[in-house]
Amino acid sequence: MQLAVDGPASAGKSTVAKIIAKKLSYVYIDTGAMYRACTVIARNHQLDYGDEAGILQAIDEDGIELKSEHGEQKVYVAGKDVSKEIRTPEISANVSQVSALPKVREKMVSLQRQMASKTNVIMDGRDIGTTVLPNAEVKIFLVASARSRAERRLLDFKERGIESKQTVDEIEQDIAARDYKDSHRKISPLKKADDAIEIDTTNMSIEQVVDAILAEIKKTQKIF
Ligand code: CDP
Ligand code: CDP
Repeated sequence: MQLAVDGPASAGKSTVAKIIAKKLSYVYIDTGAMYRACTVIARNHQLDYGDEAGILQAIDEDGIELKSEHGEQKVYVAGKDVSKEIRTPEISANVSQVSALPKVREKMVSLQRQMASKTNVIMDGRDIGTTVLPNAEVKIFLVASARSRAERRLLDFKERGIESKQTVDEIEQDIAARDYKDSHRKISPLKKADDAIEIDTTNMSIEQVVDAILAEIKKTQKIF
């Protein structure tokens, strides 16, 4: 069983995907974390974020691993836990440039398909329903207004005890800029798959979104 969850930045993809993975005992795969790890690698090697050949070689040298530790997903680069580092504003600001590099995408998509071939998965990202898992049994496309997504992200920082140097307006601008780049790139842009179910979560709680997705899964009558 393959469940695909796509949508713009901070629409709630990873939060709901993690909850559903736990409920159904599926493996959760955060593909955004993989592109963020590629960006950390480019930065660590002091490469230009557009240097496709250099970044590819550095990814091969360092290696990216996703590990589940105590129910939490951790990201390792060159054997080092970079789970916090991948979320910094610097990485967020540059990840869209790295993720638009065709050969970087090719490599990540191949890894993602490999992971999804082994077990039941719920995978979140931008191109899961359109490109990575076009035959996924259930495809969800989550959206929410840019303002509410920026407010959620700021609250998320506060709750995790991270002091945000950015105001809500600045976060909103960054999110909008990233959405624009992700939607307008040539390869696998952020786009709702024709057979995906769109859910606008602007005025929905996390529980309501989870229930709406579980109801869609139930409709396939493949589980429960
Ligand atoms: O958590 P947030 O929504 O901010 O982003 P993310 O899911 O961590 O993804 C970070 C970036 O990786 C996105 O802005 C895209 O540029 C890229 N990405 C992608 O191109 N394809 C995916 N399947 C997932 C992420
Ligand atoms: O993975 P993605 O970037 O799409 O978003 P996320 O990191 O799962 O969600 C961003 C923030 O929005 C988190 O702090 C969630 O708790 C919050 N959220 C929310 O307040 N209401 C929802 N319906 C979904 C997410």
